[in-house]
Amino acid sequence: MAVFRLDKFLVSVGIGSRSEVKHLIKAGRVTVDDVIVKKAEEKVDTSVNIIKYNGNLLEYVENVYYMLNKPKGVVSATTDNLNATVVDLIKHGKHLDLFPIGRLDKDTEGLLIITNDGELAHNLLSPRKHVRKKYYVELDGILTEKKAEIISSGIELEDNFKTMPAEIEITDDNRKVYITICEGKFHQVKRMFNYVDLNVTYLKRVSMGSLCLDENLPVGKYRELTADELNKLKGDIK
Ligand code: URA
Repeated sequence: MAVFRLDKFLVSVGIGSRSEVKHLIKAGRVTVDDVIVKKAEEKVDTSVNIIKYNGNLLEYVENVYYMLNKPKGVVSATTDNLNATVVDLIKHGKHLDLFPIGRLDKDTEGLLIITNDGELAHNLLSPRKHVRKKYYVELDGILTEKKAEIISSGIELEDNFKTMPAEIEITDDNRKVYITICEGKFHQVKRMFNYVDLNVTYLKRVSMGSLCLDENLPVGKYRELTADELNKLKGDIK
């Protein structure tokens, strides 16, 4: 059972902002069980009531999954006193207690899943599941084959954390590389390159498990995961 105010429900399924949906309700465009309802505060139970907008059935979805192309400058949190959060960027499903699966640093861009599915988050983040995360990295110096080998064979970081073997692909420009890791410790990628005296100047996550950042998704924008993407992602959890 999920009970909401009618206006909140309409916002959550993407009909419009709180003030827009209030107007639409007043204009008689919304019915509950085929009766026009003009009170925004009317309570609706999505498991019982049939809610329609302009005659079209609106379906409540319990779990939602968004792919966000995280921009720099926003923090991977649900609330923050100083900065905008990744959840602030999501205009849908406001009542659904959305959160990001894992964290990217404030200055990191790229793939972040925003959801309200705690079980999926727990599984994707569990160190035992070894879900692979791939990052595109720009460096302030050249990554030699020797340095790449040191990083990829596993290194001991300053907090005695020993990284698992990582995969590194050096592009034609050897200051621009891809790294794939199975863990997600604080600042892990930056610390791994720091270990061989290189600084990360730009970092972007390009995939998590089988889920790849949609190249057509502009920075700061999001879209729902497709059913296929979600199924494959769930299949990544062994
Ligand atoms: N590693 C980092 O150093 N930063 C991130 O944001 C993600 C991985």
